[in-house]
Amino acid sequence: MSKTALPEFLANTAVPADLQSVILGLADVSVTISQALAKGALAGVLGAAGAENVQGEDQKKLDVIANDLIKDCLAAIPTVRGLASEEEPDVVPCHTNGNYLVTFDPLDGSSNIDINSMVGTIFSVLPHSGSATVTEQDFLQPGRQQAAAGYVLYGPSVMLVLSTGKGVAMFTLDQDQNSFLLTEADVSIPADANEFAINMSNQRHWTSGMQSYISDLLSGKDGPRGKDFNMRWVAAMVADVHRILCRGGVFTYPWDSRKPEQAGKLRLMYEANPMGFLVEQAGGEVWTPEGKILDIQPEHIHQRVPVILGAANEVKVCVDYHQR
Ligand code: AHG
Ligand code: MN
Ligand code: MN
Ligand code: MN
Repeated sequence: MSKTALPEFLANTAVPADLQSVILGLADVSVTISQALAKGALAGVLGAAGAENVQGEDQKKLDVIANDLIKDCLAAIPTVRGLASEEEPDVVPCHTNGNYLVTFDPLDGSSNIDINSMVGTIFSVLPHSGSATVTEQDFLQPGRQQAAAGYVLYGPSVMLVLSTGKGVAMFTLDQDQNSFLLTEADVSIPADANEFAINMSNQRHWTSGMQSYISDLLSGKDGPRGKDFNMRWVAAMVADVHRILCRGGVFTYPWDSRKPEQAGKLRLMYEANPMGFLVEQAGGEVWTPEGKILDIQPEHIHQRVPVILGAANEVKVCVDYHQR
């Protein structure tokens, strides 16, 4: 039997037509991004762009290329009221009659670009119910209100992973037809984990709760947890979370004492919330040490947050270490 293509899937699952147009636009532009990535050095797209973004990070050429492509794509969709991006200092107003706001991380895992390793695009779609003139305030909605969230993983295959609030579906790009085909309909994360993902080099900068938690994982079956844990770190949240959606585990990017005011590295509105929406829709949990990420009332679009997500039972254990 032939596989279901993305437009058919959206129609079959009763996704509103105006939301379908946003998702299909993002899917189309991701194909263009994947083609630029595939050309790599041949197209002269690798390396630094020579500018800094609002977060103080050095932009790669592909951060800028992907941002411009997505911005142009969304600006051409009449149902998009406004957009916000990791690479844009301020929110960008689009169509006055649009009823969706889109936040995105155009290229996640930038440090992987120049080593031909996995990167992704993350997006979050929020309803718009504010004023005619779009302001940052209109975007500041808890992640639980997302109408859709997803990512595209540019790996050996290009995959689109999507939720519109009715579970998580995975699509693989058929590169002959430039069409995303449904390859996994009901993604689910097992409640227990035996794999964790964290950048271990920052260990000395974590809270004591996080240090004890990881130290107990590392002590394996002879330690308090009574079992061995494996470790993986791709350094692209998309790829690390994709692994968790495929085979389980826990992912964390914790608070760090070097920049205490930043509350972590990952950004709430275009990294933690969309990935968190997917993980919760797949039966996992998504927390900071203080509470569920999707319930946080955002204060600004580039806000950062510590993230603990994945296998439901394991996330609870990790949060528990912080409350001891
Ligand atoms: P981005 O490339 O969009 O700025 O995001 C990078 C993030 C995230 O994808 C990843 O989990 C993390 O940075 C990796 O951080 P380290 O370099 O500290 O491992
Ligand atoms: Mn960045
Ligand atoms: Mn990112
Ligand atoms: Mn990015």
